[in-house]
Order: sequence, then structure tokens, then C-alpha cells
Amino acid sequence: MKVIVCNTYDELSMEAAKIMAATIKEKPDGVLGLATGSTPIGMYDNLIEMYKKGELDFGNIKTFNLDEYYPLSADNDQSYHYFMNKQLFSQINVKEENIHILDGLAENPEKECEDFEKLIDENGGIDIQVLGIGQNGHIGFNEPDEKLYANTHLTDLTENTIKANSRFFEKESDVPTKALTMGMGTILKSKKIIILANGKAKHKVVSELVQPMITTNNPATFLNAHADVTLICDKEAFEG
Ligand code: F6R
Repeated sequence: MKVIVCNTYDELSMEAAKIMAATIKEKPDGVLGLATGSTPIGMYDNLIEMYKKGELDFGNIKTFNLDEYYPLSADNDQSYHYFMNKQLFSQINVKEENIHILDGLAENPEKECEDFEKLIDENGGIDIQVLGIGQNGHIGFNEPDEKLYANTHLTDLTENTIKANSRFFEKESDVPTKALTMGMGTILKSKKIIILANGKAKHKVVSELVQPMITTNNPATFLNAHADVTLICDKEAFEG
């Protein structure tokens, strides 16, 4: 795993945006795997800036998001659909039909997940996947457990994740307890992966991630089995 340690969140956000921009320029009809959460917001802001300056074109880019709460409608302001529209899609020229986010109201979640996997494959696979990391090491919503799932699936969120995500909701009881998420195999099939982490709260899981080992107690460590992963973090996440 390549590691880039930055002094500040702004620096981290620019490093991540540069890597994304290089991929987009190299393959203007490429497939981006995207994440929500607070960490990638600065990177999205930089990509929007680059687009506005005419340096980037998203006209033929396709996107697949990691996850979505379940059950939650796309127009709910807590949904990941809503987040992505606000933080990125509404400010760049990506085409609506090229945006793929799991349907948080899917009547048949199993079929929704199967179709999503197929669609990724039909589009030639993900060229670059952006990840954040949960305080418990989750990536997407693959939570620490004895078993991890390979494919996109419906999953229960852990207490830790519900608590961490309650900051975006009015009260903790409003946080959905389930989510649809890419599986570990879905993520690991991506050709290139960048994982972003900032702040002291991520130090424990980041320090495990940079060890040459894999454990289902910290799902992010599975990235150590991938040939092209870059961890971009700040000093606080790296050093504690
Ligand atoms: C978001 C996602 C989550 C977050 C993680 C970190 O789509 O899949 O795994 O990346 O919870 O969230 P932040 O960035 O808010 O600390």
C-alpha cells in the first residue's frame, strides 16, 4: 500500500483530487466508484473547481456509489443520493443516466444488489474507487464481523456506526439501521483504490491498516490484498 501523509485536510483533499483528475483525464469515459461521508467532501470541492476551470470533463464519466441507507428514499435529505447530488453531481456535467446509486427503497433488495453488480461489470469495472474508513475499520458498510460478504448486499449497521453517523441526523433513533453496500469483493475488483482518512478518531484503524496483515475485525485491512491502493491521510490519523 502506498501511503501519503499530509499536514492538513486541505492538502489531503488536493492529493486525492489530483489522483482522481489524472484517472479522468486518462480515461474520459471511465468508471468512478464514489463514497459519501465527511472525508471526501474537500476532494469533491476540488474536482468541482477543476471542472469549472475547464480542466475536467465528466460528460462521458460513469459513477457507482458504494452504499445507500435502507430503507430511505433518494429524495430524503439524509440519503446518500441526496448527498451526492448536493456535494458533486449538481455541480459538474455528469449525465444523469451515468450515475448509479443503490435504491434505498428497492422492494427486492437482493435483486437490486445483483443488478448493481452486473451493471458494474457491464461497464467494464470500476477504474478508481474512493473510500473513507469508519472508526471501526468499515469500508462501505462492510462492518467488522466474523464473516464479510463478497458481493453487494443488504446489511445491518453496528451500534458504533449508527452512533458515528447520528451527527448527520436530528437524533440517533433517526439513523437507519440497515444499508445496501458494495461487498468486499466488489470493492477489491476495482482497478485502483484510494482510501482517505483524517483526524485522531481514525488513528487506531489507520495504524492497523498500514500493518501487512488482514483481519475481519478491521475490514479495511483487506485492501492489503490489492495491488494498487493509496492511503491518503493527515498526520493526526497517521500518528495519533
Ligand atoms: C460512505 C461510506 C462509509 C464512510 C465512513 C467514513 O459512503 O461508505 O464507509 O466512508 O463511514 O465516514 P466519514 O468520512 O464521515 O468519517
